[in-house]
Amino acid sequence: MFGKKKQAEEPKVTVDERLQHIAFIMDGNGRWAQKRGMPREFGHTQGAKTFKKIGRYCESIGIRYMTVYAFSTENWKRPQKEVDAIMKLLDEHIEECFVEMDTDNVRLRFIGNLEVFPPQLREKMKRIEESTAHKPFTLNMAINYGGREEIAHACNRLIEQGKTKVTEEDISSAIYTAHCPNPDLVVRTGGDLRTSNFLLWQSAYAEYYFTDVLWPDLTPKDVDEAVSAFYSRKRRYGGV
Ligand code: IPE
Ligand code: IPE
Ligand code: MG
Repeated sequence: MFGKKKQAEEPKVTVDERLQHIAFIMDGNGRWAQKRGMPREFGHTQGAKTFKKIGRYCESIGIRYMTVYAFSTENWKRPQKEVDAIMKLLDEHIEECFVEMDTDNVRLRFIGNLEVFPPQLREKMKRIEESTAHKPFTLNMAINYGGREEIAHACNRLIEQGKTKVTEEDISSAIYTAHCPNPDLVVRTGGDLRTSNFLLWQSAYAEYYFTDVLWPDLTPKDVDEAVSAFYSRKRRYGGV
């Protein structure tokens, strides 16, 4: 999943139970490529490499759950050439996971509305999820993911189950990430200060960390800085 041959960079920080789940809005691929006079697609290819490096690193410092925003429900608005390039990368990534799923520690989950993907690809995702269900490091890949779509989808599932009134607990149990705790820390690269429809329900009390670093440039050192910032915060959850 993260590449068998490569070792994770020497961990500089470790985390404890306060930081179990880290989520990344992997933004800035297009600008990274354009700055180099390259097509935006090149940034996505580079971004996929960074994703592996950062995933390996997060696992090595003791993170238990990682969620990455790879493609939003709104990203279909992009030029067809770019969408095609991202879908090709996704396809290749899933194929790689399929081949490597027995050899690493990653429990892979695909979150988002997967109905739009071809049946063969969905079957592969399902088999990867089933075969890795017992692994210790959970990686949620958000594809065709939108926080609003997720909440509406959850409500519809509950209606199908016969519910006529829903509680917060019902919704939490019906969203795509029901298998893991809420994110403690959400990191957005690329300099924009917004959620762009990511984990809306789950992030009600997440700590946010924004950096101008473009996703393909993100390093383990930047993760260390985000982790240090997290530990410097006081989470009050509405209390005092
Ligand atoms: C994030 O990078 C990746 C996806 C949204 C698929 P962008 O492609 O949004 O890069 P910028 O923000 O345009 O630089
Ligand atoms: C958010 O980035 C989506 C992903 C990183 C997959 P966008 O680039 O789509 O967000 P906006 O359009 O700047 O809000
Ligand atoms: Mg962007």
